[in-house]
Amino acid sequence: MNILRIDSSPMKEASISRELNDVLQKKLESQGHLITGTRDLYYDELVSLGDKERYSAFFTPSENLTDVQRTEIEGSNELAIEFAAADAYIIGVPMYNFTVTAALKTYIDLISRAGISFNYTPEGPVGLLKNKKVYAIISTGGTPVGSEVDFVSPYLKTLFGFLGITDVTFIAADLTSQSREASIEKATKAIDAL
Ligand SMILES: Cc1cc2nc3c(=O)[nH]c(=O)nc-3n(C[C@H](O)[C@H](O)[C@H](O)COP(=O)(O)O)c2cc1C
Repeated sequence: MNILRIDSSPMKEASISRELNDVLQKKLESQGHLITGTRDLYYDELVSLGDKERYSAFFTPSENLTDVQRTEIEGSNELAIEFAAADAYIIGVPMYNFTVTAALKTYIDLISRAGISFNYTPEGPVGLLKNKKVYAIISTGGTPVGSEVDFVSPYLKTLFGFLGITDVTFIAADLTSQSREASIEKATKAIDAL
């Protein structure tokens, strides 16, 4: 499998999802899989948040695009094509206010593109990303993954399903504020068992 690794924590050394993404990467590499791309959503400075010019670009005829909008679309094309080309994804997902970080949400907006990752059809939208696998490590402070206020896992399951990806494995590194060590140990065991 060609794997795209995505990190979306603004924390660096202190980040639990990054630490566990390293463990997961090593595990999958030991099984003969390759990391063929990495995206570090805050540190690669791929995304500037809250950019109204970006979103209007998708609804503007190409002859009317500003230079900024053209650059935005080219950047989105690059990310969406890269995403569509991978066989699998390992994604570090910190929970922020019960959902994903702003950078991960913006990245999702950039890679979810009609004609690349899904198509509109008379029967409704159809995901184009088939036979792919997602591993998502969800790190939280006090919210249990799978609880009724965990909006990360149902959101990601719905989003990836919309894009055609039904094979989604969540690895919980939750309740880190109670015990960082216990949370990392639990998640590491889950990774070992993959
Ligand atoms: C702005 C912000 C919002 C957060 N919101 C939540 C939350 O809703 N629920 C929760 O359990 N933890 C929350 N946390 C704690 C993080 O999920 C926790 O620190 C996690 O380890 C972050 O992942 P990271 O270590 O990879 O950065 C929040 C942290 C920050 C900074």
